[in-house]
Amino acid sequence: MSIGGMRRLCRLGLAAVLATALCVLTLVDMPPQLPQLPTDSPPTSGSEPPATRSIVAYSWARRLALDYRPSRECTIENNNNNDNDENDNDNNNNSSTASTNTTSNDAKEMWLEAIPGRLFLYAGHLDIRVVGYPSVRVIGVKRESTVSGALFCTIWHEDHEGMHSFSMEALVSDIWLDEWGGTSTGYTGILITCPLPESRTYPTRVFVGNTACYRNSSHSLIIKRGNNMKRKKTHQFTLCVKGLDFDEDISDKLVGFFELSRILGAGMIYVYVFSVHENVTRVLRFYERSNVVRWFRLSLPGDLPNNVIGRRRLFSKDIWIKRRMELIPYNHCFYDNIYNSEFIVPIDIDEMIIPVSVKTWSELLTNERKKLGSNFNDYASYAVRNVYFFPELQSKINDSSLNNRIGNVMDKFNYFDTLRTTNVSPEGDSVKSFVSTKRTLTVHNHYALTTLNPSTRRAYHLDSRDVLKHHHRQCDKDRLNCHDMMSNITVDKSALKYVNEFKARVKRVLTKLNALM
Ligand SMILES: *[C@@H]1O[C@H](CO)[C@@H](O)[C@H](O)[C@H]1NC(C)=O
Ligand SMILES: *[C@@H]1O[C@H](CO)[C@@H](O)[C@H](O)[C@H]1NC(C)=O
Ligand SMILES: *[C@@H]1O[C@H](CO)[C@@H](O)[C@H](O)[C@H]1NC(C)=O
Ligand SMILES: *[C@@H]1O[C@H](CO)[C@@H](O)[C@H](O)[C@H]1NC(C)=O
Ligand SMILES: *[C@@H]1O[C@H](CO)[C@@H](O)[C@H](O)[C@H]1NC(C)=O
Ligand SMILES: *[C@@H]1O[C@H](CO)[C@@H](O)[C@H](O)[C@H]1NC(C)=O
Ligand SMILES: *[C@@H]1O[C@H](CO)[C@@H](O)[C@H](O)[C@H]1NC(C)=O
Repeated sequence: MSIGGMRRLCRLGLAAVLATALCVLTLVDMPPQLPQLPTDSPPTSGSEPPATRSIVAYSWARRLALDYRPSRECTIENNNNNDNDENDNDNNNNSSTASTNTTSNDAKEMWLEAIPGRLFLYAGHLDIRVVGYPSVRVIGVKRESTVSGALFCTIWHEDHEGMHSFSMEALVSDIWLDEWGGTSTGYTGILITCPLPESRTYPTRVFVGNTACYRNSSHSLIIKRGNNMKRKKTHQFTLCVKGLDFDEDISDKLVGFFELSRILGAGMIYVYVFSVHENVTRVLRFYERSNVVRWFRLSLPGDLPNNVIGRRRLFSKDIWIKRRMELIPYNHCFYDNIYNSEFIVPIDIDEMIIPVSVKTWSELLTNERKKLGSNFNDYASYAVRNVYFFPELQSKINDSSLNNRIGNVMDKFNYFDTLRTTNVSPEGDSVKSFVSTKRTLTVHNHYALTTLNPSTRRAYHLDSRDVLKHHHRQCDKDRLNCHDMMSNITVDKSALKYVNEFKARVKRVLTKLNALM
């Protein structure tokens, strides 16, 4: 039975034990997919009728007003406590170096256990994207079905009179859709919104727990503001690479990924790291120094394992916890860049978004903007459909002119493989997207999960004749019908236009890197 057929069968919800077992087996290693894209009618050309627009605007305003939670000042005693706290200083040089010597970005420090065993906070960001409704967005993880009852934010800010704190009810939304299922005993990412009253000085710290006016400001997150709140974005594209976990020395591969991405238009690349070879750490440091890469050590919250073996065992045994935890770095990357970057792109290093006839992502989206007109802004993300360049296909290639042109670069980097599956994966399946930082509330690995304005649609699929996401990985026989897919292949040379520039750049970087060793 085909996967599509199986999925349909599952959807019908046949209760038979056998069918259930089969469904579980088939679906278990599928990436989460949105159950169904919104089936709105396709965007019409020309401007929307003014009436529609005002209804939409009205309903969003209404929603914002409904979601607003009033704040109250916390009492002076709290402030005194805070002032006396000698540890209340994010510039403490010693604290961040305590547990590891590998990087200053130690994420272990970032998990704040807010409710013991139940609520863990990862990062807090100021979000002033909605005029009149500033908020602090906290990315956290809850232990499923144990966090009940209201949560409250405590926010600290400082003015000429010193530190003050105030508190309000928190709004919590899962960074996950129930339809994706998975076990409910695990941990789920959440986005906590703390609605700020207007006209405050910038808040500096935040805590979320089950009581208002939390007192210990040392036990709280520093609120990040984004480096650049000016109108002009620093970058058009920031890539987000989820937790790398590789024993092998993939440093050359990573250099290739960075350089090809930069040619295509990546201004910044965020990389999250579970565990990598020391040579890979060198590569990350090298790029960090030139301000091209920012990288973060990643750990898991609560009682989830943080040793290499335990973590890998958990992730291979429970794909759902793996998928859920991946969404933490993606959303951190997103909120860290809402003011710096126009789009973020969650992507893996064996993938590359390759336009067919233009050279850069910027040109691609400029053309799309022209095509869609003002409807371009109706979407929170622009999805690129998937094709596989299975490495095991590539030996079939027999074009000596091609081999000469690529030379030994081809041996190391498979971004320039030229044989792919003819069939493009269906819309929504394995896509990767340009996610708008202006219109998105939360992201998952395929596209915007929720939108800032509820009337914005989640995803628009770019035409597969204009751009494809090249996936360079071995065929996964458990998920795909490898035999059928490989029996229908196409030569696709769209990535070859970058080869010369790529070779020159990689050579330059590898020379510099080797000189440093
Ligand atoms: C931290 O270190 C920097 C330089 O290494 C120094 O200038 C600064 O004063 C130190 N801060 C604290 C709080 O010790
Ligand atoms: C921080 O480190 C410096 C130098 O290593 C040391 O003198 C100082 O006592 C440390 N401070 C704390 C609070 O641990
Ligand atoms: C980091 O610390 C560990 C143990 O404390 C040590 O074995 C290792 O050599 C250190 N690595 C570096 C790069 O300093
Ligand atoms: C406040 O938080 C700090 C950091 O987590 C902790 O070390 C300290 O014991 C807490 N103080 C109180 C009074 O709970
Ligand atoms: C790291 O890379 C250098 C240069 O490519 C190589 O000589 C060295 O063997 C590598 N280190 C390890 C531990 O593999
Ligand atoms: C590749 O092409 C060469 C010359 O055109 C030919 O001799 C060789 O048999 C071909 N190899 C395969 C695997 O088709
Ligand atoms: C290969 O895929 C194309 C595109 O879907 C299709 O038109 C064609 O019939 C397929 N060829 C074979 C031999 O299956």
